[in-house]
Amino acid sequence: MTRTAGLIGHPVAHSLSPVFQNAAFQHCGLDVVYTAWDTPAARLRTRMQRLRSAEMLGANVTIPHKQAVMPHIDELGDFSRRVGAVNTIVNREGRLFGFNTDGPGFVQSLKDERNFDPRGANVLVFGAGGAARGIVLALVDAGAAVSIANRTPSRAEDLAHTAGAGARAVRQPGDLAAYDVLVNTTSIGMEGTGTEDQSPSDFLGARPGAFAVDIVYAPERTTFLRDAEAAGLRTLGGLAMLVYQGALAFTHWTGIHAPVEVMFDAARNELARRGPAR
Ligand code: ATR
Repeated sequence: MTRTAGLIGHPVAHSLSPVFQNAAFQHCGLDVVYTAWDTPAARLRTRMQRLRSAEMLGANVTIPHKQAVMPHIDELGDFSRRVGAVNTIVNREGRLFGFNTDGPGFVQSLKDERNFDPRGANVLVFGAGGAARGIVLALVDAGAAVSIANRTPSRAEDLAHTAGAGARAVRQPGDLAAYDVLVNTTSIGMEGTGTEDQSPSDFLGARPGAFAVDIVYAPERTTFLRDAEAAGLRTLGGLAMLVYQGALAFTHWTGIHAPVEVMFDAARNELARRGPAR
């Protein structure tokens, strides 16, 4: 039986997940088709019910439903409960299991793509929105000390409070030399936002050899990453987190290691095929 997986969100037409997940299933010889399921809020309940049928392997969840799916899940993983958001669902004989691989994917991408273990590292995170939440919690779990700087300070304070002893909110980043990793979780620099030529950091005083990691993947080289490179930092672009959250989801569904390089290639080819946004 061909099994089905898909992405629940709205809109989902431009998602890269179908492209790299299908490439991964094909590469591994698995009879699975991954579809973009555009799901307005009014259809979410029905979509979740369908997910329990035997041909359904599971799903990813994206904006705006990462929280809204939670009441429809039978068993929540600890991390997804703490983050308060689910991005991966597994259907096991009609029971739905919820996970969140966004933050863990971020940490895994640093480990596997840059051979960097954040244990004991000082990390500065720009932003305190939904994306920051999973990243900060996963970094703290991995043993990093995280400072959070956000345009709206109260959001940074709330997030630091949630994350506990390993995190603190900062009004100003302070001496950048103190940080081993600087992360952009804001939308600054993202194609189509009018902030393409902006960056949350000037990298003045940053330590050459430290890491700058962006979660924005279009453009692939953001102003944040280009400025970091010019200041002598090592960089990791946003496609890595996207692919690794997908790789961890793939493993939840299949029990096997995901072909990360195949997924990267598929995602890059698709971005190149689409060309720059107009
Ligand atoms: P996401 O779920 O993608 O993280 P979000 O919850 O809307 O989206 O969060 C967006 C983050 O980018 C926030 O930290 C936001 O700062 P505020 O909390 O002050 O709104 C940040 N952000 C977006 N545009 C920004 C800009 N032009 N300058 C500074 N911060 C910005």
